[in-house]
Amino acid sequence: MKYRIENLIDKEAVEKRIKELAREIEKDYAGEEVYCIGLLKGSVIFLSDLVKEINIPVIIDFMSVSSYGSETVSSGDVKILKDTDLDLRGKHVLIVEDIIDTGLTLEYVIKYFKEGKGVKSLRTCTLLNKPERRKVDVKVDYIGFDVPDKFVIGYGLDYDQRYRNLPYIAVVIPE
Ligand code: PRP
Ligand code: MN
Ligand code: MG
Repeated sequence: MKYRIENLIDKEAVEKRIKELAREIEKDYAGEEVYCIGLLKGSVIFLSDLVKEINIPVIIDFMSVSSYGSETVSSGDVKILKDTDLDLRGKHVLIVEDIIDTGLTLEYVIKYFKEGKGVKSLRTCTLLNKPERRKVDVKVDYIGFDVPDKFVIGYGLDYDQRYRNLPYIAVVIPE
């Protein structure tokens, strides 16, 4: 496919918003310790930048759920490929995502955590949110930006595994 890339949210705006989210998170978890669980791979860049800004004790872990592969739309078929390493019983858990699209991935992960992990609290945080695409009603506690229904890349988000390293958010436009 021939395509071009257009900038959507510049680096400075992303960095500023991440600092704001960190301030909110610190305030909400004041005096506590928070387990930030990133969903691989999309969340890694956002999670790395976010945790550096959070001035309360943070513990990091990762989970991997089934991917869209090279498809640009969700299959809705979610499987756990790698579970968390840590025992999360009685812990405050914050699931960190790069984007909530249909909500199917997050819905599955929330259900999985609530049913089996015995966590003390569970919240969710995403850099990007695409409300127009939502298929299931999931609660997202911290949202960086709402984005239009376009194919977004950068800051962890890929197009066929590429562009995750862009330090800004852009849109793929077919030509
Ligand atoms: C993307 C994105 C979210 C999920 C959102 O991951 O990073 O995890 O899809 O879509 P949903 O709300 O429709 O479920 P992807 O499966 O592309 O894997 P990746 O993170 O490795 O890129
Ligand atoms: Mn992902
Ligand atoms: Mg992807």
